Amino acid sequence: MTGNCERLANKISAQLECDIERIIEQNKRISKGFLRFVNGGSAASKKIGKINPLINNPDNYERILIITPFWASSPIPAIRGFLDLYKDKMKGKKLGLILTNLGTDPSEVILKYNELFPESVTTSSFTKSKGEWEEFKENEKIDIFISDFNDN
Ligand SMILES: Cc1cc2nc3c(=O)[nH]c(=O)nc-3n(C[C@H](O)[C@H](O)[C@H](O)COP(=O)(O)O)c2cc1C
Repeated sequence: MTGNCERLANKISAQLECDIERIIEQNKRISKGFLRFVNGGSAASKKIGKINPLINNPDNYERILIITPFWASSPIPAIRGFLDLYKDKMKGKKLGLILTNLGTDPSEVILKYNELFPESVTTSSFTKSKGEWEEFKENEKIDIFISDFNDN
């Protein structure tokens, strides 16, 4: 919505030299200013978003990494929509999950996201209030994540 995940995704895909794709929910949402926070209700109520068709077929990939925010301490509708459609196709693949968020402790939200995946997921999170969006800390966390993702 505000480009935080996109920026991180571009950085990580450059390091992994992998394809990258934006998961787009069809529902047009308020994305600017404080009013964007009204979208939290649809995440808290576990809304499954309808997403645009993908450009890249998940069947063609051995590893899939999702980078997403969370809203109101809950998985966002676009990712629920993606996993609702593609969960079965993700079985047997190496899966990764990275969250970006402002200040909430992400540990419980990670559990909520993990439940949506068919298998175990290598997970990391980048929380602004912990300084994890600052370049040095961010790069360090990216390196740790990539090393875990490669090993698992
Ligand atoms: C509707 C909404 C609800 C949010 N709820 C939380 C929250 O519960 N905890 C938190 O730390 N950040 C929350 N955030 C902040 C986003 O998770 C954070 O800004 C994220 O990096 C946005 O990524 P994006 O720019 O790629 O959309 C919320 C943002 C929005 C728009």
